[in-house]
Amino acid sequence: MDVAQREIGAEFSGIGALLPDWVPTRGRSRIRRAAAVIDAEVARVVAEHRQGDGERPDLLSRLLAARDETGARLSDEEIRDETVTLYIGGHETTSSTLVWAWYLLARSPGVREALAGELDRVLGDREPGFDDYAQLTYAQAVVKETLRLYPTIWLLTGVAKEGARIGGLPLPPGTRVWSSQWATHRDARWFPEPEEFRPERWGPDGGDGIPEYAWFPFGGGPRACLGARFAMVETVLVLAVLARRFDLDVDPGEIRPVPALTLQPDREVLATVRAR
Ligand code: HEM
Repeated sequence: MDVAQREIGAEFSGIGALLPDWVPTRGRSRIRRAAAVIDAEVARVVAEHRQGDGERPDLLSRLLAARDETGARLSDEEIRDETVTLYIGGHETTSSTLVWAWYLLARSPGVREALAGELDRVLGDREPGFDDYAQLTYAQAVVKETLRLYPTIWLLTGVAKEGARIGGLPLPPGTRVWSSQWATHRDARWFPEPEEFRPERWGPDGGDGIPEYAWFPFGGGPRACLGARFAMVETVLVLAVLARRFDLDVDPGEIRPVPALTLQPDREVLATVRAR
């Protein structure tokens, strides 16, 4: 995964972005080798699941049991592809978002205090659960603001169809188009003082004044993130579980983002954990 992450990121930001897909490069052969390792591991897990008795209460079992309208099952290759997509889409993204959230919180004592205040008010001495999500509006704003400054998916790419226009100008079909969350989310037209970590900008109305697509960490359109709602709930609740009980003092040095497949910290992020 580390190799695939790094090399795919290099494809996005380096020479690979300009070369047609068929040109062989070292990076591309490293991606192929890493993909073979991931595929083999996933195939092993799938085979293990198939042998188990009865359906387990997990997503892979659901995929294995699924039938389409003609009664056909997913092929092994489809199961593998869905599983890899969910693993990458569902794991790296939320875990990196939490790392960036703690980094930002550690540097913003005022935000940390406001978050702790909300957790005390809403939860008292209970653990948070799904039903608390709607009340945890400040925690939601912390996660949204983290995804604004450190969008774990920082770049989207697509291929223009017939009739596509950008900024009013026609695009020849087949043109590759890149749009960057990183750049758009730091545009002062939509986010005054864009470098500031300020959950308050999402306000009690949840940032209704911010135009659609000024903030798009989950992409958009028909291929938008399938797990967007799940990811928000998961990230907010994990943050609430931890922040209710602990303070994480992340070491104060600057952490620079590395544009791999997801936005990664440039070094190990160490923190001192203190009970609150
Ligand atoms: C903070 C967490 C997450 C972020 C920032 C994120 C972001 C994204 C983005 C930007 C896309 C591509 C959208 C596009 O091409 O327009 C995407 C696709 C996808 N995501 Fe997420 N995601 C997150 C969490 C999750 C979780 C938790 C799951 C599953 C449980 C998930 C499942 C998927 C899937 C299946 C797709 C592919 C959708 C398709 O191609 O039709 N994601 N995600």
